[in-house]
Amino acid sequence: MSVTPAALGRAVPYLRCPVCGGGLRLTGPGVECERGHSFDRARHGQLTLLGPRGRRFPGDSADQVLARERVLASGAFDAVAEALVRAAGDALAGVGHPVILDAGAGTGFYLDRVVDGLGDALGIGTELSVAAARRLARVNPAVAALVADTWDGLPLADGCLDLVQVVFAPRNAAEFARVLRPGGTLVVAVPGPGHLEPLRTEAGMLTPAADKAGRLDADLAGPFALDRVRVVDAVVGVPASVAVDLALMGPSGVHLDRAGVSGRVGPAERPVRIHVEVRSYRRSLQE
Ligand SMILES: C[S@@+](CC[C@H](N)C(=O)[O-])C[C@H]1O[C@@H](n2cnc3c(N)ncnc32)[C@H](O)[C@@H]1O
Repeated sequence: MSVTPAALGRAVPYLRCPVCGGGLRLTGPGVECERGHSFDRARHGQLTLLGPRGRRFPGDSADQVLARERVLASGAFDAVAEALVRAAGDALAGVGHPVILDAGAGTGFYLDRVVDGLGDALGIGTELSVAAARRLARVNPAVAALVADTWDGLPLADGCLDLVQVVFAPRNAAEFARVLRPGGTLVVAVPGPGHLEPLRTEAGMLTPAADKAGRLDADLAGPFALDRVRVVDAVVGVPASVAVDLALMGPSGVHLDRAGVSGRVGPAERPVRIHVEVRSYRRSLQE
């Protein structure tokens, strides 16, 4: 007999059918809407809610996900997690049982920390990568894992969320505005110009677009107003193996190979700059 993870059961009232937009109800193997569109839960616990166009892009590969998991386990990004926990705590002070979404949540590392930091929250994580969603499904009993495409319309009801966070993942401003309640908070983590240097240059990784923060503000203008910026800027020492994983876990991983990066990185522990902006935006009060 399959048992629905508790968080998925709690999340169902906030979900909507990716085909017709109707509400969903739990069935034995998954969920279905009134029109009979049904979606099964996978063995690992994640629920796939892709629309009629299906999966047009696989998301991160299993190798990228494994590399990311090792990097995050090393503690190199703990300061980013702490900034996200503070951003959520400030935004949700006094809000009982908040419901939060992490869009493009990866392995769920940050969502786990944020949900634990809040104590009584329900976390919903969306991912396109099946390898990531499998980990997300097990990261925290208060997290429901969905396979969904941020660009294809989120399978979530209008105005149902208290907070959306997006960490180095695709942003769909119109969808985030739709699913957030008026006055809700969007927290976005973006790399600063010095992020991952000097490794980035030495390993041949892609350079983040210039003025990412300014462009982000412009993209979000309208429904969102900037509330607060937290800057994480620290140099951490990482073993050579983690430095290689750092180079391979992100977009650069698609065009770099492990042997080549290992040769450029060398065998010694290395200093790496973690330079990240955690930007909090308030959703306007108008619908
Ligand atoms: C750079 S990783 C960041 C993962 C996670 N937020 C973290 O920081 O650990 C970007 C993630 O976004 C996912 N992704 C890419 N395109 C997506 C889309 N259209 N919808 C949902 N997830 C997507 C990838 O599979 C990947 O896990």
